Amino acid sequence: IDIKALRGVTGGLVTLDPGYKNTGSCTSAITFLNGEEGILRYRGYSIEDLADKADFLEVAYLLIFGELPTESQLNKFHSDIKENSHVDEDVKKILDGFPKSAHPMGVLSSLTSALIAFNPSSVNIENEDDMYNAIVKIMGKFPVLVAWALRKRTGQPLDYGDDNLGYVENILQMMFKKTNKNYDINPVVVNALDKLLILHADHEQNCSTSTVRIVGSSHAGLYASLSAGINALWGPLHGGANQAVLEMLEAIKEDGGDTKKYMAKAKDKEDPFRLMGFGHRVYKNFDPRARIIKKAADEVLGDLGVEDPILDIAKGLEKEALEDSYFVDRKLYPNVDFYSGIIYRAMGIPVEMFTVMFALGRLPGWIAQWKEMRENKEPIGRPRQIYTGENHRAFKEVSER
Ligand code: ACO
Repeated sequence: IDIKALRGVTGGLVTLDPGYKNTGSCTSAITFLNGEEGILRYRGYSIEDLADKADFLEVAYLLIFGELPTESQLNKFHSDIKENSHVDEDVKKILDGFPKSAHPMGVLSSLTSALIAFNPSSVNIENEDDMYNAIVKIMGKFPVLVAWALRKRTGQPLDYGDDNLGYVENILQMMFKKTNKNYDINPVVVNALDKLLILHADHEQNCSTSTVRIVGSSHAGLYASLSAGINALWGPLHGGANQAVLEMLEAIKEDGGDTKKYMAKAKDKEDPFRLMGFGHRVYKNFDPRARIIKKAADEVLGDLGVEDPILDIAKGLEKEALEDSYFVDRKLYPNVDFYSGIIYRAMGIPVEMFTVMFALGRLPGWIAQWKEMRENKEPIGRPRQIYTGENHRAFKEVSER
């Protein structure tokens, strides 16, 4: 395709494609997704291999820079991130201003936006060094903001964890460290969180990623674009689904565990209820990430000795949906968020933090997509519309209306 020639075309035929179901907004070399066959690859590597063999930081490097890192590249990346993880003390004052009840997604998007004021050099990215510095800064500071959003909610003093730990281990340490008592790091939990973050790391032009790209296409800075992406992710039809799934499973449990009743509600077109965690815009086959997560959920719950009736309800719903013609005909399979909340819950992460954990995983994908958009010198995103309003009308003075 001659992309440059396409860019010059304006004033042509306007296609109407609500929800952009069949509209490509860009070319991209980052993530390959075949929804019919359930295939997902980052930079050519299958999601199954990456979840099994790589760690989150390697995958972040792969997404952002295009190749798996050598050992020394990975070590440098990690140490640059650690060196840049400090968050300006004044950001704590902003956090202090939020009520304890504030939703952590709102806190995270606000603080990510606030970082712009404390790191003004991240706005004007003119060369590779500027880009690299902006990337390692946000990769360092973002997990701190995530952990602080949780600690604010739980009334714990803010903490930077332990620099000697791995990236993912330290996220857990920062989130759960008690005063004078380190969090007891369980390798099974670290491994499961690592996998979850990898599975969420990118998913081509979904709602939040498209938001990051379109905001960035106006040449707004990286952190401003990321903050917008966090807000897009928050909605229950997108990343907010993981919180919505768990709340739905809890509601079914409280209501006596009758999954059939909720299946019927989901199929009733008069009822706005949807089976959260089912269906996907692109996957019309099993979400490959859901398979990996389901296995991880069994491992974590088994290792921690957690017997969660919610998991049984989830498995029951999945079994019924896979045998129900409404779901089969519409190709509605469990998506990545159907099981992730069960793992987060077993790890002791409160339900309001689930979408924040998704954002933590999606960060390298957003960065990679933003970087690609800028490097490809993409034009400002500006969709057209089909106008359906009034024709020209004569203005009437207030007294005549
Ligand atoms: N429960 C019941 N019916 C559903 C569901 C569901 N979860 N999802 C889709 N349907 C039905 C629709 O009612 C529609 O039926 P119809 O053809 O009889 O009108 C048909 O399936 C197609 O659904 P659309 O909404 O047109 O599909 P779309 O691609 O626009 O939406 C979406 C995809 C938003 C994911 C949808 O399936 C949904 O709302 N799922 C529940 C929320 C969820 O889990 N979101 C997370 C997605 S994954 C992610 O973002 C990480």
